[in-house]
Parts: sequence; structure tokens; C-alpha cells
Amino acid sequence: MAVILGIETSCDETAAAVVSSDATIRADVIWSQQDVHSRFGGVVPELAGRRHLETIDVVVREALRRAEIGAQNLSAVAVTSGPGLIGALLVGVAYGKALAFARGVPVVAVNHLEGHLSAALLCEKPVDPPFVALIASGGHTSLYHVKAWDQTELLGQTLDDAAGEAFDKAAKMLGLGYPGGPLIDALAKNGNPARARFPKPYPTLENLNFSFSGLKTALLYYLRDQEKAGKSFAIADVAAGYQRAIVEVLVDKTMAAAERVGARDVVVTGGVAANSELRARFTDRGGDVGCRIHIPPFRYCTDNAGMIAVAGLRLLRTARAASLAFEPQAHWNLQDPGPG
Ligand code: KG4
Ligand code: ZN
Repeated sequence: MAVILGIETSCDETAAAVVSSDATIRADVIWSQQDVHSRFGGVVPELAGRRHLETIDVVVREALRRAEIGAQNLSAVAVTSGPGLIGALLVGVAYGKALAFARGVPVVAVNHLEGHLSAALLCEKPVDPPFVALIASGGHTSLYHVKAWDQTELLGQTLDDAAGEAFDKAAKMLGLGYPGGPLIDALAKNGNPARARFPKPYPTLENLNFSFSGLKTALLYYLRDQEKAGKSFAIADVAAGYQRAIVEVLVDKTMAAAERVGARDVVVTGGVAANSELRARFTDRGGDVGCRIHIPPFRYCTDNAGMIAVAGLRLLRTARAASLAFEPQAHWNLQDPGPG
């Protein structure tokens, strides 16, 4: 059976996965760079690129070892070629091209967002189009109508910060650490959102875009006003109120998107899909309106190479293998043709 190696280095995870042609994951290694970036409260692009360079070979070798194969058994290589941090993408692309050239196998350039959408195939029950997808991560917040695998329509996206970024920036303001999403999620469990209310950011349903930068400013003012008035507050309440505002708008707009295009299946992915309140709210709302909600296992929601390999398998079948001449692209809309 054909086996494909997936490589992902677009941001702060160095990842490699070995996947069979029937989309079975045989090995899946993720080396997170959280230790490098946490003290800066966000990803430092220069440091990300350097760390990928140090770890990519170890990560790929470990994936091959766990899959119990050698590089000579690979039938193809799929590598994230954008969008992302250019210095980080360059490492994975150069490595993937070199390996494919050395083994004489095709290499395919995968759009990172197409990878996130392909995580639908890694759900407990694999989901095929048509569906509406929300990708909510540290770098993206976008809604797509996936009509067929090669036919996606962008329905809305953030006009400024991504949802994950809103969590991360709030955590930084609250002195909690990085990444902020899991920390706020944990704190919110013991908080009362009614005691620290934040306005739903950009709630209009006239369009399906998002905006989170105003919410961040609202938190800044809230903290400043509390301090000025000498009032004490429970940080858990603030976490709960802030999280509630983000979750509500993500759920409202995604369900509005599903209604607009008549979708019965909704896929929620990206790191923010790990949020416990978001998962619960989506499941409730889906049940209310008869929509099936699919959330991939957490490992395949956050950045990983399994989703890149699965997307690569499909692209190879449709003959979208790139020549070795392609270059990574920091900006690459899903609708645009890829490099090569
Ligand atoms: O998909 P991902 O690993 O990387 C990007 O492509 O950005 O997403 C990381 C983002 C971070 O902003 C992190 O704070 C957020 O996902 N995140 C969460 C949770 N776990 C991770 N946000 C809210 N609640 C969580 N439990
Ligand atoms: Zn991502």
C-alpha cells in the first residue's frame, strides 16, 4: 500500500506524519515550540524558523521509526507550503523537496487551511463534503462552505485578530501565560460570566465576518476601570465572561452560515475547537436545529501533519503534485491555485 509523509512547519509546531493511502495514520509526531515562545506571550517568527531547522530531521525520523518504515518505502511527500510564517514554511518545504528528490517520489504543496479542512476525514466518523467549516486557531478564524473537496467558498473571516489570538492576548493582559486559550478555558470553569459581562464582538448576522480586536480593548478598559475604582474582581469571572463573548459569536455565525447554505453537517476545527464551552455550545445548538456537529480529536484540531498528509493524498489523486520548483507562500488563499 502507498504511504505518504506529511510535513507541517507553518507556525510553532514541527510535525511529521506517515499515512497510508486509505487515510490510516501510521505515525504522527508533533514537537511543540511552546517552551521557546511562552515567555514572549506569542510566537516569535525568527525563533520559530530556527527551532524548525533544529528539529525537523529528528521529527521526520521519529515518524518513520514509529511507522516502522524507511524513507525508501515512501510513495510521496506532502508539505505545508502556506499560508504561514515564511521562515518557518521554508524549513519544511526545503526538507520535503530534498527528501522527495532524493527518493525520486512526487512532492505536493498543501495549503495549511486545506489541511485543517481535511481534519474532517480524521473525525471519529469521517466527514465528506458538503459541509460548513469553522477554522478557529491562533492565526485564522474563517468560515467556509466546502461544497466538494476542490470547491470551497469563503463565507466570512476575521477582519482583525483571530479567535485564538483574542484568547492569547487576554491571557497576557491577565498575566496568565501562553498559550492563553487552555488557561482561560480552565479558569472559566470556576467563574460566573454574569459577573463580568463583555459585549459580543461584531455580532451582526448581516455578514459572516468576525472582529475580535474591540473585545481585547474592552478587557483593557475593564481592568483599568476596576483598578481605578479600587474594586477587586475574581479573575475566573473575567475569564468566563470573556470566553462567553467569543464562544457565542463563533457559534452564532457558524450556525447562521449553515442555515444560509442549507448545510446539515458542520465541522469545527483549529486550536480553539479544544475549548470546552465552545464544544458544548456547538453540540447543543446543532441538536436544536438538527445539524450534525463534527469536531476532530484535539490532536487533529491543532496544527499537525496528519491533516497535511490526508490532504496531500487527495491532491496527488487529482494530479496536483508540484514540480520541485515551487516556493512557499506566506499568503495563500484557499481559492487560489497553489505553487507549482
Ligand atoms: O491550531 P493551533 O494549534 O495553531 C494555529 O494554527 O494557530 O491553535 C492555537 C490556538 C492558540 O491561540 C490557543 O490559545 C488556542 O488555539 N487554544 C484554545 C484552547 N486550546 C488552544 N483556545 C480556547 N480554548 C482552548 N481550550
Ligand atoms: Zn493551523
